[in-house]
Amino acid sequence: MQQTETKERKKVIFSAIQPTGTFTLGNYLGAIRNWIPLQEEFNCIYALADLHAITVRQDPKKFRENIYEAYALLLACGIDLEKSLFFIQSHVSTHAQAAWLLNCYTQFGELSRMTQFKDKSARHTDNINAGLFTYPSLMAGDILLYQADMVPVGADQMQHLELTRNIAERFNGIYGNVFKVPEGFTPKVGARVKSLQDPTKKMSKSDENANSYIAILDKPEVIMKKFRRAVTDSEACVRYAEGKDGINNLMGIYSAVTGKSNAEIEQEFDGKGYGDFKTAVGEAVVEELRPIQEKFGKYIQDKAYLKECYEKSAEIARKISQRTLDKAMKKIGFVLK
Ligand code: TRP
Repeated sequence: MQQTETKERKKVIFSAIQPTGTFTLGNYLGAIRNWIPLQEEFNCIYALADLHAITVRQDPKKFRENIYEAYALLLACGIDLEKSLFFIQSHVSTHAQAAWLLNCYTQFGELSRMTQFKDKSARHTDNINAGLFTYPSLMAGDILLYQADMVPVGADQMQHLELTRNIAERFNGIYGNVFKVPEGFTPKVGARVKSLQDPTKKMSKSDENANSYIAILDKPEVIMKKFRRAVTDSEACVRYAEGKDGINNLMGIYSAVTGKSNAEIEQEFDGKGYGDFKTAVGEAVVEELRPIQEKFGKYIQDKAYLKECYEKSAEIARKISQRTLDKAMKKIGFVLK
């Protein structure tokens, strides 16, 4: 790195994703893919939020597989360890420590107002555990430990980010400047992928109907079949318009993958039927995912390589985060070891 660059501190980006099962095309276009170009410009710190994942019950064997799979998949998507950190949250114990501290600076009322908590506790009535409730303080710890300037998040996590800012401001208000107050940003709206079977709903891997989502690891023939079955309308004209949710969604996917505008897509399929359009969308997605699937296939078989990667990042993450944790603990009045 050149001297001039080191003087001007690169902005720090932090983000994390939970390792829960297959990622969908929606996760890829809406979140993961946006992480990749950020690496050129920023100091990116990415984590697999395995501690967050146990707020709902996990099958141990499946959970472990999901962690390996998610790690290998994100590497395959283009996280570059020459430029960024990518570690497993539970390997860096400062996260759990920070969560405890921040819990004591987070109000019961604030956590009670989190819509994700309200939704999840309504859906999992048999397991409304304290971790589900304090989940946002753990997330605040993730972010604040790295003095992150910016946090790319989906719309569903914006409320947690706002809470993180409030916690940071409150802490700083008491003890002086300890935490950087982070800005959240949601990457562009164009990539909000909807269900292929009910295009008014978000594409979700928890959907009972597997035809409604494309998994990043779906085989080409499966991807083609799912697009061919995608719900459309009876107009038989490829154009972006209100009420044409199915076609709008397919156009959004095609546009995200090819970079073509809606006008260009309409022109390309002028006079052609939905069959041709669906085939084109399917083929474009297959080509986009092919190199990722190939790399994934290599990484997932090489546990030693994966270990080398996550350990290298965790070691650096431990050092960076410990500095912030020590600073916060000292301010609170703890005797540091
Ligand atoms: N809670 C986030 C989600 O489920 C994942 C997450 C954990 C996260 N820690 C984070 C996202 C810190 C951004 C920053 O999507």
